[in-house]
Amino acid sequence: MSVTAVAFSPVGQPINRVDGRLKVTGGARYAAEFYQPNLAHAVLVQSTIAKGRIKNIDSATAEKAPGVLAVITHANATKLKQPKNDFMDGGVMQEDRFPLETDEIAYAGQHVAVVVADSFESAVHAASLVRVEYENKKHVLTLDESAGEPTRPEEFFHEPIQIHKGDVTAALAAADVIKIEATYATPTETHNPMEPSATIAMWEGDRLSVYDATQWVQGTQATLAEAFDLPRENVRVICPFVGGAFGCKGFQWPHTFLAAMASRQVGRPVKLAISRPQMFTSCGHRPVTVQNLSLAANKDGKLRAIRHRTQIVTSPVGTHIEACGLASTGKLYACPNIDIEHALYEVNIATPTPMRAPGETPGTYALESTMDELAYALKMDPIELRLANYADAHPINGKPWSSKQLKECYRRGAEKFGWAQRKAEPRSMRDKDGSLIGWGMATATYPGYRFVGAAKARLMANGCAVVSSAAHDLGTGAYTVFTQVAAEALGLPVEKITFELGDSSLPKAPVAGGSNTTATISEAILRAADVVKKKLIVLATADKKSPLFGQKVDDLIAADGRLSSKGDPSKSEKFADILARAGQDAIEGESGLTKQGEEAAKFAFQSFGAHFCEVKIDPLLPRVRVTRFVSVIDNGRVLNPKTSRSQIMGGVIMGIGMALMEETIYDPQTGRPVTQNLADYHVCVNADVADITPFFIDLPDPHINSLGARGIGEIGITGVAAAIANAVFHATGKRVRDLPITPDKLI
Ligand code: MOS
Repeated sequence: MSVTAVAFSPVGQPINRVDGRLKVTGGARYAAEFYQPNLAHAVLVQSTIAKGRIKNIDSATAEKAPGVLAVITHANATKLKQPKNDFMDGGVMQEDRFPLETDEIAYAGQHVAVVVADSFESAVHAASLVRVEYENKKHVLTLDESAGEPTRPEEFFHEPIQIHKGDVTAALAAADVIKIEATYATPTETHNPMEPSATIAMWEGDRLSVYDATQWVQGTQATLAEAFDLPRENVRVICPFVGGAFGCKGFQWPHTFLAAMASRQVGRPVKLAISRPQMFTSCGHRPVTVQNLSLAANKDGKLRAIRHRTQIVTSPVGTHIEACGLASTGKLYACPNIDIEHALYEVNIATPTPMRAPGETPGTYALESTMDELAYALKMDPIELRLANYADAHPINGKPWSSKQLKECYRRGAEKFGWAQRKAEPRSMRDKDGSLIGWGMATATYPGYRFVGAAKARLMANGCAVVSSAAHDLGTGAYTVFTQVAAEALGLPVEKITFELGDSSLPKAPVAGGSNTTATISEAILRAADVVKKKLIVLATADKKSPLFGQKVDDLIAADGRLSSKGDPSKSEKFADILARAGQDAIEGESGLTKQGEEAAKFAFQSFGAHFCEVKIDPLLPRVRVTRFVSVIDNGRVLNPKTSRSQIMGGVIMGIGMALMEETIYDPQTGRPVTQNLADYHVCVNADVADITPFFIDLPDPHINSLGARGIGEIGITGVAAAIANAVFHATGKRVRDLPITPDKLI
């Protein structure tokens, strides 16, 4: 009998998505697709004014329309209980009041009624018959003095966001420094995942089951339970597939409560699917930002001062803060004097929420553009300028990085891109067809979060295993990566593993936000697998009939579905045989809650990367085409190069959209978004991108978890808009300080 000497290691392999076949054959079901017998349909009526109150809702005609089961308004809606909004153990409502709780209107698009009927068509028709009379008040839509005095919140998710280190005012006033002052602006951007949000809710007595498009099944479970005053175990939330989310399904939104409310009221399962236009006001967006940057540097490029003032907006009922300065200037450069300030204005626009790298994305656009301006002022190469200010420790709290390979990202990116061939002068490079060529670069960064999670592993007598956690796959590849981790940890081929997620009844998992999922859940899988292996080893070594009888526990390894002695490979036995002889169908192991140890407080966990971009621009019709993009990312160990590559490519593509196209525009008269479909709101598509090549440093982070892997979902988009804007400046000599960079701004 031969025993494989070197076990195949599934982690690190570019394996295909384990759910790929289900996705391309339509076998993967999304929230709105879980058909129920006797299903009723809910359709929303939304406010057409941006501020005021409802004087009267006339629903009599709608109630008499064919097929209508109920019309729910603030006058007859169930009163819900305020949840505790505990990020660590519960869920978080992104608005601080429930839908239909009052007659006050905070923004256009606010849900004012929900019509339930026995068919979708009947519900749509009846919704059109609901007459709402408003008392109009003067609304505010713009981030300026019309919005009144801003607030200056001290913290966001327990991180201070007003930071003063050293004496910035004095450093900026010094006579011997080169100074750059600039104001950067980014517009409202809307997530627009392929799958719009949707909820199907159904009650059986005091038990509530929900199919919800969500990044947080247990958050939705907890919040619904608290709102409807039920024990948590009476609520089950299921979401095996998510068709993209980018943050807009992270927290709990009004429509989910309305679906549950409507279902209870009509005594039938109810589906409430958000339409594409409704997506622009129903579940968040990235808010508009204005950022003032002041830099002062010595002639050798060393920064003496950075002041980063961020102005952002939220809705009158919203809680999100887009912490641009904290997320960029708070992480990137060594500098003795740093001021970071955030001012929050209230406007009558729907509630904002995290959108792929909230804070980092607009923050790096502003900071990395300003650094480019400084490089030109100093006549310094932009990479040299960044190396001159390289942060060997966290610039604010001084902690050492758990692992940082940014120098290598710059070096390798420059080499792969051919940066050495760049002529520094703007407008100095041309294509054969006369197009202006611009080359720009910028730094990417995103925190390496790890939260608390758990997993369960069940090894069966047939040699297969089911491993599970209440985690999520947003389309990112989580199913695949967790299958790989479980296969390696259990010593089984990947084909023998089934991974289950997206069900609140599975072991605890946090929100799939902050790019934490891989770092959190992988660790839990390893520990659950360890419990299983220990039980298996005890069975084998205690059994006289096993070839492993009497072997020392530490001398055994699990690989290829067998336990074997490390020293003597002839001593080996199949998992299936061990279980069969013991008369057991399966062995189970649970990880318990896996928290990061003391390491968490000792180090700063942050991923970094470098983007290099080529644009080509016709000088007569200055449309920007991104023709080449090279990204080098350090996110610790890469668990699957294929899915990781896709995440970075997706981030860059979304960043191209941000730089060149995306903008949600509101009608000043009504406050309603006028861009509310994918024709008016242009997201980056295949025709807009050329050659995007991601690379990875792939060095394990020794402190984040046993595998050394930090997450990768969000870092890809950070810095992209700056790399493009910097390339546009290099091509044209024109610095565009407000996104998107449309042709009119270059003429
Ligand atoms: Mo991400 S915007 O934290 O889902």
